[in-house]
Amino acid sequence: MTSDGMSLRERLEGIRTSGLAAFTAAVDEEALESARVRYLGRSGELSAAMASLGGVPAEDRPAAGRLANEVKRELEAALEDRLSKVAVAEVASGASLDLSLPGRRTWVGGTHPVTQVIDEICEIFGELGFSRAAGPEIETDWYNFTALNIPLDHPAADMHDTFYLDDGVLLRTHTSPVQARIMMDGEPPIRILAPGLCYRRDAWDASHAPAFEQVEGLAVDEGIDFVEFRAAIAFFVRRFFGSGVKTRFRASYFPFTEPSAEVDVSCILCNASGCSACKGTGWVEIMGSGMVHPAVFEAVGLDAERYTGYAFGMGPARIAMLRYRIPDIRLLYEADAAFLEQFV
Ligand code: DAH
Repeated sequence: MTSDGMSLRERLEGIRTSGLAAFTAAVDEEALESARVRYLGRSGELSAAMASLGGVPAEDRPAAGRLANEVKRELEAALEDRLSKVAVAEVASGASLDLSLPGRRTWVGGTHPVTQVIDEICEIFGELGFSRAAGPEIETDWYNFTALNIPLDHPAADMHDTFYLDDGVLLRTHTSPVQARIMMDGEPPIRILAPGLCYRRDAWDASHAPAFEQVEGLAVDEGIDFVEFRAAIAFFVRRFFGSGVKTRFRASYFPFTEPSAEVDVSCILCNASGCSACKGTGWVEIMGSGMVHPAVFEAVGLDAERYTGYAFGMGPARIAMLRYRIPDIRLLYEADAAFLEQFV
């Protein structure tokens, strides 16, 4: 018998009943913690009851001890159970969420830097009325060469280091065949951009990849002249590289344009003072271009007396390398997440 007249057994039963009720009634972690301290804490009710075991007659002590342990295990299990329920409820209600904490960062992918450059080129020319077009990567030699005024026995055709798949069927070596397809598909006015992959039996080194992107541009209408062509290119360069960057048209040769020009921009890396990217010249070539050759109009069945136009082809990988100071083109084609993650 304890001092207040209640047997230890009754006291333990009382702790069991009220402890279980207190845990069940606790609605949050705080309430549960104070119930734990009250019933299971070091100076809680159960500890106090167990401390009085010594006063129990020796023959009743083992049974009382077993009961005390049983109550303790039961209360602990009830506490554990309630704790998990209260935690789940709190998360669900948002009560314990700190929304100001930064989230855990996981890499879910992003737009490839070359695709970013392509998108930007399309956006800028989009303001001049150009829309996107596409053509097949598997081409005939007629579209890839003949229609573009490149006879198959011409050295220009050899220079393309073509992957042939079959007689007369090849992997396109440039996006220019899309020009021919578009002009055969419909009447001018035409203003299109055709981004896409091209293939050449080229070295796989710091500046060459056997599969690489190009962005083809074509504008055909009545009355398009060289001035409009230069203005469009200069507009693009200003928008893409910034107004401090200069444009230079250098006379060149492409079978499908006359006159032809390569377009250089003042080197953005060294501010045109000469560096390894511009090979000390202060200028970097960004595209081949020119006025559409009358022979191309004839090949695709457009009236060369009525229509004129300009065309250009750029390498967005090289432009990305220049813009982001990427020293080796292979980095762009190796799908290395640690590298690509920098451009998100
Ligand atoms: N197709 C050329 C190449 O792959 C690039 C090019 C040059 C495209 C001049 C054009 C152009 O449309 O007018 O090297």
